[in-house]
Amino acid sequence: MKQPIGIFDSGVGGLTVYKAIKRAFPAENIIYFGDTARVPYGPKSENTIIEYSIQNARFLLQKDIKILVVACNTSSAVALQELEKLTDIPIIGVIKPGSKLATDSTHNNHIGVIGTEGTIRSEAYNKAIKSILPEAEIFSCACPLFVPLVEEGWLNHPVSRIVAEEYLNFFKDKEIDTLVLGCTHYPLLKSLIDEIMEHKVKLIDSADAIALHLKTLLPVESSTEPVMDRFYVSDNEAKFSQIAEYILGVQPTPIKRVRLYESWFE
Ligand code: DGL
Repeated sequence: MKQPIGIFDSGVGGLTVYKAIKRAFPAENIIYFGDTARVPYGPKSENTIIEYSIQNARFLLQKDIKILVVACNTSSAVALQELEKLTDIPIIGVIKPGSKLATDSTHNNHIGVIGTEGTIRSEAYNKAIKSILPEAEIFSCACPLFVPLVEEGWLNHPVSRIVAEEYLNFFKDKEIDTLVLGCTHYPLLKSLIDEIMEHKVKLIDSADAIALHLKTLLPVESSTEPVMDRFYVSDNEAKFSQIAEYILGVQPTPIKRVRLYESWFE
């Protein structure tokens, strides 16, 4: 069997990244790990995010993956350098591909970024965007309530609209023409955000950005070999499956719960 692509996220939201990668690489086997026992990572400290990310990466590295995709923006923002020390296989996070797409898209160099508290606090997007486009003006805003709203399935609910209006009001006088959706869950709120931004701002979806970037690293093959994706979670397969269904349109299988703290610690 072909070596799989490994993807991890703090939970179920990274399935937006899985979906974009699957669409781009239908003949690849993918192993997905969602750390549903310890989600959310967004409000946690840098040390904890790094510790959890290393454990997640180690779990996938045991599965003979050929490339590791860090779907979680918060892990990508905070832990990527530490993860790169673990292995020689390519490790890609969402920050650089998303930043590249944002700099390609902007015409007035005013770029907005939304993400979890951890992602925004790290300034990872600011640094990555500035390294490509030094004259960029970046305006960032943490939107922590978006994650639970998406997990509740409230994609177009009045409550989500009020919350989104409140957060996005920050951008009213910033004249941004591009907004990075710097969190796994935010692509699911795309149409709501687009409406609130009056369809005037280009929305950068980090899931699409990473799939596009992967195409520069991995040839797209058409193979007749059967494809087998596998899904692992650290807690509550049933809840994962339920939210996964509205992200993917189908329930993913097989889903297996793996025990934390047994084999992962040295
Ligand atoms: N996966 C996280 C991210 O993309 C969102 C959920 C969390 O806070 O863990 O930043």
